[in-house]
Amino acid sequence: MAQRPAGDGAAPLSARRLLPCAILAGMLLLPLLQAGRSCSTPCFCFATPDTLQCRLVRLLEPPPELPAAVHNLSITGGNLTVLRTAAFSGGWADGEAARPLANLTLLLLTHDHIEALEEAAFAGLPALATLDLSHNRLRSVAPGAFAGCAQLRTLRLNQALPAARDARALEELLDGALVNLSLTRLELAGNRLRELPPWTTLPSGLLHLDVRNNSLQALPPEQLDGLAALGPLRLHLGSNPLRCDCASLRPLLVWLRNATGRPAGDKSLHCASPRHLRGWPVFRLRASQLGCRDGADLGLPEDGGQPSEPETASYVFFGIVLALIGVVFLMVLYLNRKGIKRWLSNLREACRDQMEGYHYRYEQDSDPRRASPGDL
Ligand SMILES: *[C@@H]1O[C@H](CO)[C@@H](O)[C@H](O)[C@H]1NC(C)=O
Ligand SMILES: *[C@@H]1O[C@H](CO)[C@@H](O)[C@H](O)[C@H]1NC(C)=O
Ligand SMILES: *[C@@H]1O[C@H](CO)[C@@H](O)[C@H](O)[C@H]1NC(C)=O
Ligand SMILES: *[C@@H]1O[C@H](CO)[C@@H](O)[C@H](O)[C@H]1NC(C)=O
Ligand SMILES: *[C@@H]1O[C@H](CO)[C@@H](O)[C@H](O)[C@H]1NC(C)=O
Ligand SMILES: *[C@@H]1O[C@H](CO)[C@@H](O)[C@H](O)[C@H]1NC(C)=O
Repeated sequence: MAQRPAGDGAAPLSARRLLPCAILAGMLLLPLLQAGRSCSTPCFCFATPDTLQCRLVRLLEPPPELPAAVHNLSITGGNLTVLRTAAFSGGWADGEAARPLANLTLLLLTHDHIEALEEAAFAGLPALATLDLSHNRLRSVAPGAFAGCAQLRTLRLNQALPAARDARALEELLDGALVNLSLTRLELAGNRLRELPPWTTLPSGLLHLDVRNNSLQALPPEQLDGLAALGPLRLHLGSNPLRCDCASLRPLLVWLRNATGRPAGDKSLHCASPRHLRGWPVFRLRASQLGCRDGADLGLPEDGGQPSEPETASYVFFGIVLALIGVVFLMVLYLNRKGIKRWLSNLREACRDQMEGYHYRYEQDSDPRRASPGDL
């Protein structure tokens, strides 16, 4: 009978030496667990009230079999290309979805090479509230693509519409697909849009329209009036190359003055042109800078007020504080160098002992002929 040099008896490890090894193992395992949750590599995760399951696979089509109780589903890095009718609920049969997922509320389909949404692609998901189609390449969206999604409130199409740069292209792509939804939030960030989506393509009752990181330079009054017709909408406009001359910016300022909701993140609104105003925060502009004769009516400060201090001062201060913290940290390290060295060598030894133990046990267990009944 083979003897067990480690584990059962021969060389018990002291708790003092095991502890650092356990901490190290924990530090290595933690990111893995988190990666499973956020699903950043090709992977597919679903959650039911009792379980969360993730598989690191690159799906080529929607998963055919899912538990009926699933409420979160995320597929990342797949190649789904075309989502057909009832793609996630077993297809369409006899006028209804074959396997409806009555409790699915969250569906994340990012980086999945999705190019087309066919009629009622999300049928059979009556509870769907959040749908994320960001980072795809949608080239065709059927007018009834979201039919049956009566509970859909948040739709994310960030970096998902490569061909729709202007209002006409957007209208063609989204032709009727959104108007009958009860969305409260629509995200269209990072789509290189040069114009706002025409209000006729948007659902009424929309509360947030996120068009950050696009190519919007000026927002003509007719586009803004259209949005106003939808209701009390908040426009998220940050990271757009806004043109700060009177004619271009005036409609936006008028609209904002009148609108109940200013754009969120005011501070991130900066001028991109003309040259002498590049990088200037829009809400620090003065009437004279904009060249509007009636600047004061637009809510802009008149000249002669407080000179606006540069934002850089706070960054400099932040930098100094960081540098101080860094110096203190280095000093502590330096003063403790002996202790750290000792700790590291302890850690190395402890881990080596552990690994040898596992290695040995693995070899023994993997050979069934050597396992005696007493071991089983
Ligand atoms: C499902 O998604 C929601 C919203 O993101 C989240 O709050 C919830 O924790 C998720 N459930 C599981 C089991 O992951
Ligand atoms: C959906 O959730 C409800 C309550 O949260 C539960 O009663 C029902 O059984 C669930 N449906 C499925 C198919 O699991
Ligand atoms: C994705 O799938 C389509 C067909 O469904 C195929 O033509 C294409 O080559 C695939 N792309 C990749 C990157 O696998
Ligand atoms: C939206 O609803 C209206 C009225 O209910 C209906 O006439 C129209 O066909 C619907 N549009 C789409 C694309 O489903
Ligand atoms: C902004 O959008 C572009 C594509 O339009 C994208 O490449 C870039 O990563 C986005 N930037 C951020 C900060 O999201
Ligand atoms: C301001 O809003 C009111 C209603 O909220 C509207 O009647 C009016 O036309 C708006 N004015 C401008 C200049 O948009």
